[in-house]
This record gives sequence, C-alpha cells and structure tokens, in this order.
Amino acid sequence: SIAFLLALVGGYLVGSIPFGLILTRAAGLGDIRAIGSGNIGATNVLRTGNRKLAAATLLLDGLKGVAAVLLARAFLGEQDLVAGTAAVLGHTLPVWLGFKGGKGVATGLGVYLGAMWPVGLACCAVWLVAAKVTRISSAGALAALAAAPLLALLLADAEHALLALLVGLLVFWRHEANIRRLIAGTEPRIGQKG
Ligand code: G3P
Repeated sequence: SIAFLLALVGGYLVGSIPFGLILTRAAGLGDIRAIGSGNIGATNVLRTGNRKLAAATLLLDGLKGVAAVLLARAFLGEQDLVAGTAAVLGHTLPVWLGFKGGKGVATGLGVYLGAMWPVGLACCAVWLVAAKVTRISSAGALAALAAAPLLALLLADAEHALLALLVGLLVFWRHEANIRRLIAGTEPRIGQKG
C-alpha cells in the first residue's frame, strides 16, 4: 500500500541522516570515518575526546528512531514498525555515504522507545549495565539488542518481537568486526582510541 511505501521511504530518509559525521565535521574534527573504528556512531565520536559531541550524536541518532516511529504512527496509522525498521536500515545503509553507515544501536534503541517504551527502557538499562560492567560499548549494545526480542514477547506482542528480531539481526551483522575483536579479546574499552 501507499502508506507502507511512505513509511519505508520516510523512515529510511529520517534514519539516514548521519549526525555523527555532520557534528564532528562541523566541529572541525575532520572525517570521523578516519578515526578509531571508523564508525559514525556516538561510541566512535567519543574517541575524538569530545564528550558533548558524543552525547549529542547518541541523542540525535536515538531521536531519529523515535521520530520515525511517532511520525508514522501519527500520519500513516499502522505502519510505525515498518518506519522504525526502515530508520535503522537508513542509519546502517545510508545512500548518501555509499551505503556505509553506522551500527544501528542508538537508532534501534530509539525505535524501541518509540514503538514499545517499556522494552526500550529495559534495553537501555541492559545496555548501560552491560557497558558499565564490561567497559566495552559494543558488548553493552549486543547484550541489549539480543535481549530485545524476548523482552518484546514478554512486554509487548509478537509483531513487536519481529521488529526487534529484524533490527537485532541488522545490528549484529553491522557489528561483525566488533564480534571478532570481542572473541579475540582486542575490543577497546569505552573512550580508548581502538
Ligand atoms: O554503537 C556502536 C558500538 O556498539 C560500537 O562502536 O565504534 O566501537 O565500533 P565502535
């Protein structure tokens, strides 16, 4: 349907705004893709040493997810989960950057907060605790995204669990290099240059 297509394209476009790249460039820090892991996300922005910019990246990338879901719900009715999935797709595979985007953690959590806020809050808590314990951002992210489908089944419904499964698969796929480093024991701690 036309609403489905609008949710898909609209969600993708909202998600594809590369805030980490835009903010670091505007701050005169050069190309974030040449720093640390090369990722455009908040974790890598923190490797520039600028905490405020990293926090702003986290917030804005998260808001993209919330906005995609809430806008779709307001204007397209039942297509909010489609728009949310598309937003994470847009963040991870943005046409503007030759389809080389971020890893989808902040945007994914934003989608969960917009689509099923109790699950979103629980996932943020899992992320914070796991990241605090391990001092590794990707470990916290993977724990939170892995927990989401089960939390969605418990606190929401099967449709939301499917959203969490799709987003989770996308995020895990984008963390391939991180997972290799985690297994090898070489994944850098939060704030380390990597
Ligand atoms: O949010 C992405 C995070 O999980 C890992 O980022 O830069 O360490 O690959 P990075």
